[in-house]
Amino acid sequence: MQRRNFLQNLMLGTGGLSALPFTSQATNQNLQRILGYAPQKDVTTDEDYWAQIQLAFSASPNLINMSNAGVSPQPIMVQDALTHYNKLCNEAPTYYMWRILDENREAVRSKLADLAGCLPDEIAMNRNATEALDTIILGLELQKGDEVVMSLQDYPNMLHGWRQREKREGIVMKYVNHNPLPCEDNDLLVRRYVELVTENTRIVHLTHMINWTGQLLPVKAISEAVKKKNPKIKVVVDAAHTFAQITYKIPDLGCDYLGASLHKWLCAPFGTGLLWVKKEHIASLWTHTPSDNPLKDDIRKFEGLGTRSFPIEMAIGHAVNFHNAIGTERIQKRLQYLKNYLLTRCVDLPNFYTQTSLKPEFSGAIALIGFKGMTSGELHNSLMKKSRIYTSPVTWENVVGVRVTPHIYTPIKDMDKVILTLQDIAKDQNKAPSK
Ligand SMILES: Cc1ncc(COP(=O)(O)O)c(C=O)c1O
Repeated sequence: MQRRNFLQNLMLGTGGLSALPFTSQATNQNLQRILGYAPQKDVTTDEDYWAQIQLAFSASPNLINMSNAGVSPQPIMVQDALTHYNKLCNEAPTYYMWRILDENREAVRSKLADLAGCLPDEIAMNRNATEALDTIILGLELQKGDEVVMSLQDYPNMLHGWRQREKREGIVMKYVNHNPLPCEDNDLLVRRYVELVTENTRIVHLTHMINWTGQLLPVKAISEAVKKKNPKIKVVVDAAHTFAQITYKIPDLGCDYLGASLHKWLCAPFGTGLLWVKKEHIASLWTHTPSDNPLKDDIRKFEGLGTRSFPIEMAIGHAVNFHNAIGTERIQKRLQYLKNYLLTRCVDLPNFYTQTSLKPEFSGAIALIGFKGMTSGELHNSLMKKSRIYTSPVTWENVVGVRVTPHIYTPIKDMDKVILTLQDIAKDQNKAPSK
């Protein structure tokens, strides 16, 4: 009964106005089947279940997309919601966007807060993780000489944000170098950060899952240890790859500020992100699109961007509904399974290496792989040329190879195709005269 009510809510969207049946019948039937599954059933290797999920997407049949860490496709129901809201807004933009849909913002905020396990008053919606994290990086009150600890393997946009403050204001940067990767020793990971903490350290910036290799950091343990050494430290978390992929509640991370993408693992529309600020820090964080009172204690002060796409923001609610119908735990297990399915079948190939852990406490969906003697670009091109498998080539701070990232719509036969192609590449490499 509860499930049926949930399904009705799913179809009704985020508010009264969106009760139009804009999702196609075929999609609804697929979702009905998905929702019919007992929540306690382990579906990790149930290909029938995941085949239904695949049908809820419009993934290209002409390309095997293994580049899902960059940005995710949206389920058809999210695409339909976006089209629906867009058409509605085009009937009378100021009326539908600012009068009608604006009222639904709070419902979307609550849904996100529910998923994040925090207060709605701690969540602001914005356009991406970069915007969320730059709001934090550029909005924190820091003085010349204050120190920031981060790692060379953090995301470039965030490195650039902090380095701009270094150039303009004279803050001091200290870098952890995660080498080698993967690292399967939590004590070592904690020590790498703690060693750089001094009495001048004010900020520790952590990437929850390092995008290049999928390495998970023990954020809570690092937060506790650095704060123990210097209680003036605040912890900023880049959760671009863990929000909606890994099971956790934001307050359990022991951090103070967090930014995430919603167009990655939540499968929300392109150009959606989330900013979380611990309630007690909202007032002291400056905005980058200021209002009359930039130091007020209201998370909505970070949403003063001016005219932007309401259809995109409204469709986030539908992505959360879709996500919840499966559940983060199932998603995490499935992605871990798909990634390990690939790695365990390739580790013995000649010259093959990986910079990704097989253990769930240190990894997720992302696999960084390579062959000794082959550049990232050569491997990327070879996968594409032989089997139209699209990956991301990586050469960045001790990380070299291609990033292979499946998603919840990836069937096991696509993983088999990647494995067969890698076997083929290994054979070619063996035949080629050594360089
Ligand atoms: C670790 C990490 N942080 C931040 C970002 C930036 O995300 P967005 O494109 O949503 O700004 C990315 C993007 O891939 C990322 O991998």
